[in-house]
Amino acid sequence: MIHPLIEKFQAAGQGQVFAFFGQLSPDAQKSLLAEAAEIDLEEVARLSRTLLAPGASAGVDLEGLAPAPYERRPEHGGDAAAWARAKAAGEAALRTGRVAAFTVAGGQGTRLGYDGPKGTFRVTPVRQKPLFQVFAEKILAAGRRYGRPLHWFIMTSHANHVATEAFFADNGWFGLDRSRVHFFRQGRMPAVDFAGKILLETPGAIALSPDGHGGSLRALERSGALDLMQREGVDTLSYFQIDNPLVRCVDPAFIGWHVLGRSGMSSKMVPKAYPEEKVGVFCVQGGKTVVFEYSDLPMAFQREVDATGQLRFLAGSIAIHVLDREFVRKMAAGGDGVTMPFHRADKKIPTVDAAGAPVKPAKPNGVKFEMFVFDALPFALNPVVIETLRADDFSPVKNAEGLDSPKTCRDDQLRQFTRWLNANGAAVSADATGLPAVAFEVSPLFGYDEDSFADAWRTRSPAPVVSEGLYLA
Ligand code: UTP
Repeated sequence: MIHPLIEKFQAAGQGQVFAFFGQLSPDAQKSLLAEAAEIDLEEVARLSRTLLAPGASAGVDLEGLAPAPYERRPEHGGDAAAWARAKAAGEAALRTGRVAAFTVAGGQGTRLGYDGPKGTFRVTPVRQKPLFQVFAEKILAAGRRYGRPLHWFIMTSHANHVATEAFFADNGWFGLDRSRVHFFRQGRMPAVDFAGKILLETPGAIALSPDGHGGSLRALERSGALDLMQREGVDTLSYFQIDNPLVRCVDPAFIGWHVLGRSGMSSKMVPKAYPEEKVGVFCVQGGKTVVFEYSDLPMAFQREVDATGQLRFLAGSIAIHVLDREFVRKMAAGGDGVTMPFHRADKKIPTVDAAGAPVKPAKPNGVKFEMFVFDALPFALNPVVIETLRADDFSPVKNAEGLDSPKTCRDDQLRQFTRWLNANGAAVSADATGLPAVAFEVSPLFGYDEDSFADAWRTRSPAPVVSEGLYLA
């Protein structure tokens, strides 16, 4: 008798998934069936129809596209009193325990080419702390500052979940209360060939990959994280990516803008560094806030300037958001026109031939489907976009070398430490880019942002001398 799941796949035209089933061991059969059970065949069929059909990717709708408004920083003409109100509101939210930190760490980190969960990659200039430790210490320090330890939600993938949990256990959860650190896996999507047929990675395994950072919304719901937050009185999630140690994991002003604005989803922007910079841009279209990918924004738009000579489409997205818990629930439930779209990425997907022998394609042979978190924005009520300074919030490690690499990120951390010190009367000499001549490090447990640093510095007398290898803790 044929297994009902196999029949279902055959009826959907996906019987090839079980082509080698008869040759598998009972355990391997079980494992293939379990993978198959994860797949929503209707979703795959819909995506094949909409994203793979000839002409499906033709044409981006530019109708009515305009730059999104954003809250300027006070030093750039923004309303200083409104920023102060936002900060006070954010601090109050932190003091009442309404806020949790949320890190998406399910990516594959292919560009960095590092073997292991990206969060275990070492980034700081002196102590070589891994990314997870940097965030853990910022979160620990913020909890102390506001008198309420924070919950921290970490989204992993099937590939890195076990290693991630083990890393925290081996390091004593970096001093955090382990009952407040929550790991959950994101969903997976099958890769398909250009005809929409699900690909096998081996005779006994489907080519499955993480469903994108946009999958975090439904993973939060499926994992029970939203219910846990509700029980704990958390309604506000501070979202950031695993690769950016400069980020303020919980930024009172940002949280305050979000809370006071009664926003479903808020975002930080930085002014684009140059017209062709490869970042998404905050826009409005049809009354909705959207992020336009740089590849979709025609060059003429990217280069357009206003009467003052400033780029018109200026607001670059740096993947830092605040999310309202119930907004996440609504997005996860979907229906009623609410849906996270999938994007198609053509990739070289290792697979098997008709005889089950491995095939390593030299050019793209199929498609992966991913969701992007910013695609939730058009569904959010009162979306708020605020300006931040790149130097305070954004220096990701994406590539092994060159732009956005361990080297640029290390230098940006050094510049940040130097600014904090010099703002408090130290005289650390630096070059024209703000890079100091010596490498030193500030532990987040000493200071994790301008304010906490200034408070800690005041208590140090005499002031420490900055020299090579200094570690302020
Ligand atoms: P990136 O877009 O940089 O992708 O992810 P990546 O997979 O980490 O790296 P490359 O492209 O293979 O080099 C941005 C953030 O989104 C998370 C990543 O972990 C990172 O924090 N992410 C990405 C997920 O959590 N899940 C995904 O499926 C994709």
